[in-house]
Amino acid sequence: MQFTDKYRPRKTSEVIGQQEQIGKIKTKVSDHNKSKLKKALLIYGPSGTGKTSAMHALARELELEIIEVNASDTRNTEGLENILLPAIRQQSLFSKGKIILIDEIDGLSGTNDRGGIPTVIKLIEESRYPIILTANDPWDQKFNSLRQKSVMVEFKAISFIDTVNHLKQICKKEKITFDEDAINNLGRLSSGDLRSALNDLENISSGSKKITKKDVENTSEREKEESIINALLKVFKTTNADIALGAYDNVDEDIDKIFLWLDENLPSEYKDINDIRNAYENLSIADVYFGRIRRWQYYRYYVYIYDLLSVGIALSKKEKNKDFVQYKPTSRILKIWIANQKNAKKKALAEKIASHTHTSKKRILHNMPYLIKILSNKKYLDKSTKEFQLEKEDIEWLKKYAN
Ligand SMILES: Nc1ncnc2c1ncn2[C@@H]1O[C@H](COP(=O)(O)OP(=O)(O)OP(=O)(O)O)[C@@H](O)[C@H]1O
Ligand SMILES: [Mg+2]
Repeated sequence: MQFTDKYRPRKTSEVIGQQEQIGKIKTKVSDHNKSKLKKALLIYGPSGTGKTSAMHALARELELEIIEVNASDTRNTEGLENILLPAIRQQSLFSKGKIILIDEIDGLSGTNDRGGIPTVIKLIEESRYPIILTANDPWDQKFNSLRQKSVMVEFKAISFIDTVNHLKQICKKEKITFDEDAINNLGRLSSGDLRSALNDLENISSGSKKITKKDVENTSEREKEESIINALLKVFKTTNADIALGAYDNVDEDIDKIFLWLDENLPSEYKDINDIRNAYENLSIADVYFGRIRRWQYYRYYVYIYDLLSVGIALSKKEKNKDFVQYKPTSRILKIWIANQKNAKKKALAEKIASHTHTSKKRILHNMPYLIKILSNKKYLDKSTKEFQLEKEDIEWLKKYAN
């Protein structure tokens, strides 16, 4: 069993750092039928802070049946009504009552009347059971109407101290030996996301049952990749300048890497030809500024670069691509390497011929197409083989490119 499952809080008292919030939710759920105006609870906050687990623990404690739909699963959003309408109309068979948990509503669409958000609002108005929604970011304007229909409760990022203490406790239970430094670094890396802290701990300790500072450093490379993917999501999936603006604030990666990531993933994210053109226009202007910084150390251009790479690219599109796109690390460096490998043979051959003909390698490379043509004639090839001391590999290469 994974650590995250094994150490999932079973009771609300085991949920770290959110006791006040849970108290508020408990009261609200218990009083649900007393209040005339039906409101949902909207639990929001960063990933891995206990939102989903706390709601399950709460249901168990209050002896309520929990009906759960994960709204980030598109198969569910389409059938939201079909799944939940019967549930809010039927009596609970085995428990005192029920709560309806619509988890991870971030991806719901709100635009048309068949969209997920209007459906949820309808459910809130009709349900006599409490409806609990969870979200990472409820401030998107598509949630305006939903926020009015909800009591908002914020789950906070888990504090550094709490994270470190939790990790140490688990190490004890799992008999994992650890460097104090390593655990501290893990705590820092997770930046308040307890799920990722637990997953890191599990990955690093699996096998050896101990964790060192070095192990943690390797993980931080992966974290870097995750942080840039989050930044790309912000930029690519919004047309709101405010959201895009700070996208790279927490990205611990060199700016030239950000360029490569954008370049690699832009074409799979933006589909409209004009959007792609506008986005590349911004990317290239940013690149011009970057060149000036390198050449003349005009560091204040950094501001423009970040603006172009965030807001510039975000506003290059008319609307966002609603499909999920798996972002890939840049393959450009790999492509350059492969191209170099291909050229390596040619260069070696050119060098060999150059040394026998008292010319430069560059000149031979330049004339290579003619040489290939000439040497496709067996008579010349035989002569040259002797003259230039060509080897079997060289001859194979020449033959390959002759056709
Ligand atoms: N406050 C917490 N107290 C104890 N364990 C926690 C807490 N938050 C997260 N965890 C651990 O992380 C795992 C995932 O937490 P959970 O699924 O509740 O997070 P979440 O806030 O719903 O995240 P998301 O926004 O990604 O859905 C839990 O199984 C538990 O092991
Ligand atoms: Mg959750």
